[in-house]
Amino acid sequence: MSEKFPFQVLVECSQTKARAGLFLTPHGTVETPRFMPVGTLANVKTITTAQLGETGAQMVLANTYHLHLQPGEAIVAKAGGLHSFMQWHGPMLTDSGGFQVFSLSELRQVTDEGVTFRSPRDGQVINITPEKSIQIQNTLGADVIMAFDECPPYPASREAVEAATNRTYRWLERCIATHQRQDQALFGIVQGGVHLDLRAQAAQALAKLNLPGYAIGGVSVGEPPELIHQIVKATAPFLPREKPRYLMGVGTYREMAKAVAAGVDLFDCVIPTRLARHGAALVQQGDRWNLKNAQFREDFTPLDETCPCYTCQNFTRAYLCHLVRSREILAYTLLSIHNITELIRFTQRMREAILSDRFTTEFAPWLTQSGTTDS
Ligand code: GUN
Ligand code: ZN
Repeated sequence: MSEKFPFQVLVECSQTKARAGLFLTPHGTVETPRFMPVGTLANVKTITTAQLGETGAQMVLANTYHLHLQPGEAIVAKAGGLHSFMQWHGPMLTDSGGFQVFSLSELRQVTDEGVTFRSPRDGQVINITPEKSIQIQNTLGADVIMAFDECPPYPASREAVEAATNRTYRWLERCIATHQRQDQALFGIVQGGVHLDLRAQAAQALAKLNLPGYAIGGVSVGEPPELIHQIVKATAPFLPREKPRYLMGVGTYREMAKAVAAGVDLFDCVIPTRLARHGAALVQQGDRWNLKNAQFREDFTPLDETCPCYTCQNFTRAYLCHLVRSREILAYTLLSIHNITELIRFTQRMREAILSDRFTTEFAPWLTQSGTTDS
């Protein structure tokens, strides 16, 4: 199947494991490394699909868990699938629902069979198994679909993490057996918590399955960022060089730079849209500005004069400050457009640096940083 989803490594960094590549999908090519915006409910919160296209987005995420609860995959299928439903004609990826069940729903029970939980929408009891997750994702129709996994919490006992990691492997075998569509790539997910030996073992076992891509899951669940770096460094080398590697739920500058240096190609995170809804802008060097601050009230310069986004090309900090203070919905739209553009540009800059063998010099400030402050 992976012949259908070729991943081409164009250039490897001479000093790190970073690589620049191309991932081909039926809806277009993804240039890696690349940040992927999250469109949980078949929309990226507060922006239109047309605006999303102008951020430089290539692959966009949606969530099985949310779309199964509302509107249900049958309606998406009747609309002609996710691409047609939301009018995004580029590559798409759906997450499997496992992670969202663990983080969002109550009264959940996990057994080898699958997960049972109460819908936060209407209290209905819902069951998702690996088979069900794949059937839903086959129906939704994204280009990349994710294996149904169990993401252990942090902290958790080694026994609990080991059990979740082994269950994730057994579930992956069931996902592979269920997966029907040749035009969708099924990615496996490496779990293993903060236990580097479990990570290495899981990655080696998954690599043998010859999947079209691999994800590193179970990070950014409350552990110190330093552990994310260690986990990625202990996992990535065991994943096949010629397949894309995706670090799930990570979208901070330093963590992305260090992960790219360890050989990761793809990222997703809700940070840019979540920050926007709190009136905050991501700016270069990893800073976050609260646009509500009085210092911006009469600042008639763009947020970032080097940024090509619609927001920075047209509006001033003073205008954004005014919209945020007035709680106008447009504030969240304009800040989301900028924040997504900014994170994508950061990964594009890494790609260009790798292609011209400047990665370690240009990104040294990120690669050498170790502090625990999240940026
Ligand atoms: N999103 C962020 N982390 C994870 C994970 O561990 N598993 C899944 N399925 N999605 C995620
Ligand atoms: Zn901008």
